[in-house]
Amino acid sequence: MGSNDNTKIEPNGNATTGSNSSETTPNLAFIPPPFQHAIVAEAGDRIIIRDDVPLPVLDIHEFLVRTDAWAINPSDTKMRGDFVTPGAMLGCDYAGTVVARGPGVTDSVIKIGDRVCGAQYEMNAKRPYRAAFGEFNIPTGPFWLKLPDEVSTEGGATLSAGLGTAGLALRLLGFELPFDFELDLDSDLGLGQDQSQGQGPDGQTLDTDRDGHGHTPTSVQKKQIQKQKPAYVLVYGGGTATATIAIQLLKLIDMIPITACSPVHAERLKSYGAETTFDYHEPDCANQIKTYTKNNLRYALDCITTIESTTFCFKALGRAGGKYVSLDPFTASAATRATVKTDWVLGPSLFGEGCVWPDPYARPPSPELLVYGTRLWAWAQRLLDGGRLAHHPVRVLEAEAEAGGGGGLDKVLVGMEMVAKRELRGEKCVVKLKRT
Ligand SMILES: NC(=O)c1ccc[n+]([C@@H]2O[C@H](COP(=O)([O-])OP(=O)(O)OC[C@H]3O[C@@H](n4cnc5c(N)ncnc54)[C@H](OP(=O)(O)O)[C@@H]3O)[C@@H](O)[C@H]2O)c1
Repeated sequence: MGSNDNTKIEPNGNATTGSNSSETTPNLAFIPPPFQHAIVAEAGDRIIIRDDVPLPVLDIHEFLVRTDAWAINPSDTKMRGDFVTPGAMLGCDYAGTVVARGPGVTDSVIKIGDRVCGAQYEMNAKRPYRAAFGEFNIPTGPFWLKLPDEVSTEGGATLSAGLGTAGLALRLLGFELPFDFELDLDSDLGLGQDQSQGQGPDGQTLDTDRDGHGHTPTSVQKKQIQKQKPAYVLVYGGGTATATIAIQLLKLIDMIPITACSPVHAERLKSYGAETTFDYHEPDCANQIKTYTKNNLRYALDCITTIESTTFCFKALGRAGGKYVSLDPFTASAATRATVKTDWVLGPSLFGEGCVWPDPYARPPSPELLVYGTRLWAWAQRLLDGGRLAHHPVRVLEAEAEAGGGGGLDKVLVGMEMVAKRELRGEKCVVKLKRT
């Protein structure tokens, strides 16, 4: 949709060329300011709040979210040194309220006043002003979810980084997600040519009408998905926010998640679908898992990625070997068995535009990953709407919204300290704005 239409919404709210909006709801209830308060990194790893960070101009198919909550991820505390593009914003996870739309955004996509959450690619030298830790967010591509009434804004804020990470991890493990519908992938993703009907790179139907995530009722078709044989999957580090989502997704695709975590998380993780849990503090824990899985464990997802956790997973994997996937680059010397294939997740790769972080994180663009991410988010929207995706427990830091803007970002800095010091266990720190 709309790639040939270069209409832009200027900060004054005017479109500079014609609009193709077909619906009557006013698209701009709010005039986006040219600048915003945001958290950026500067030279020397100075992490500061600035009040003059440019707010990108809305494209016709984009909408603007007033941020009501920010969730803090470990990655926000790791974007230092070589990762820093001076002046670029931090933050992956946000939730908030839609306050303005480009004229190409119809009510079937999103309405003013709707609540959404989304994922941003932080510290991105190519698009430095589109990360989460700002007064406003412009959702990136398909990587946002409309929050149903049942999901709180602070809970919603925790979802996106976990969803992207867990979704990528399952792909690397070799699982197919049940994308039993066709998507209409459009030119917003940089995939299509003609916006009314066309083909994406892997032959998917393209269309203009969206129900929020790129598929129309008329063109949704059932896709045949090969049923995968249930198998045990060890999720090491069950207490992490990523494990919360990964365990649920594994259960939803009929795998059998088991997890190593502190006992305090056991009942919660079983409620998400873990068949059983093991206390990783016990010295023979890996052997317990080996016995439980009758020396047949073939899949391990390591949410911790230390020498110890890699060693643990390799010990627990069964005699025939299998697949080990970690959330960070792992130490090769701990990956001791040739029969175990290995890989690691790079969250921002899901955006499909490649990764500009330093090696070993740098990656070329991948349209296939963008297609996968689009489908993952469409599936997640269905899960969320159906009450089938729970968010990680939250530790809320409340903050006052300030009249001049910028309220709460100081609390985000506090939250980042807490996360860097690993003060939270089984909770995600979320800063929530109180608006009066
Ligand atoms: N490469 C990527 O794109 C990417 C994406 C997402 C995350 N990550 C990385 O993945 C890691 C997890 O992130 P997250 O946000 O999911 O985690 P998180 O929610 O911050 O994890 C906190 C939990 O980690 C558990 N933990 C700490 N040390 C452990 C150990 N030695 N063994 C088992 N569990 C342990 C604790 O569980 P207990 O309470 O049970 O001790 C704690 O509750 C971080 O290092 C993050 O930077 C990377």
